[in-house]
Amino acid sequence: MHVQVCNTAWIRTRLSVVTPQTLRCSDYRETADWLLSHTEQTVFPYKDIPHFPNSTGKTPSLSCTLPPKTVHVCMQGRFYFYEVPVSLQVTYPVRVFFLLGVETLIITNAAGGLNPNFKVGDIMLIKDHINMPGFAGQNPLCGHNDERFGFSFPCMSDAYDKDLCSLAKKTDEEQGCSSFIQQSVYCMLAGPTFETIAECRALQKLGADAVGMSTVPEVVVARHCGLRVFSLSLITNKVVTDYNSQEKANHDEVLETTHMRTQDLQRMVSNLLAKM
Ligand code: 6GU
Repeated sequence: MHVQVCNTAWIRTRLSVVTPQTLRCSDYRETADWLLSHTEQTVFPYKDIPHFPNSTGKTPSLSCTLPPKTVHVCMQGRFYFYEVPVSLQVTYPVRVFFLLGVETLIITNAAGGLNPNFKVGDIMLIKDHINMPGFAGQNPLCGHNDERFGFSFPCMSDAYDKDLCSLAKKTDEEQGCSSFIQQSVYCMLAGPTFETIAECRALQKLGADAVGMSTVPEVVVARHCGLRVFSLSLITNKVVTDYNSQEKANHDEVLETTHMRTQDLQRMVSNLLAKM
């Protein structure tokens, strides 16, 4: 059973205000049961799904093929850490997918290239991450451990599935994409600001190859409940590390590069799904 989670970075989602009180443990089960009781329906606008984080932007949706066949769930539009006061809200869908029977999470993002060898448009298979908000106590698993999903203190040294990463690399090479495939370390910052020059230099020294504002909370929660994870970053822009540079990180460049590589990304994910 697989799940494909698409971060369609060009479809921006904005959340309506949530408070810590809006998230109850039983909500995940209610959301999963509601989806399971709608087996004829395959596309669900987020706003229609009970307890699902709501969106006030363009209408993102969830596409599902539910049991008894293989469970495929595809999210069109994700939630960002900087949009919500409760980081568990960002990862709400992951636990619902787990309850639906999903076993594998494929998660994509847009990221700035810190590694000087990276080019705009490169695709980086993530082999490891640095959870910068986690350093500051912002881990989605902080607080009471919900035993129904997993044990306390989950291991993160094997967060990204090596077999899936090798399979993706092999598939991409067969498709002639190896010229823009990298395999490296992603660092998450909370956003929504882009980094200062000093921050970019510090992240390079820490061993990060790309920086973004997403993915890590979902990966942490997915690993906690035992999902296999495969993730990739599209390098949409290069970070600025030179005080004499006139370059500035900007969202338009992120969208432009995403648009340029959309078809490659779609092909890569579908090829990988076909081989899994
Ligand atoms: Cl340069 N920084 C961050 N934090 N996120 C990004 C990015 C940069 N480029 C795309 N997403």
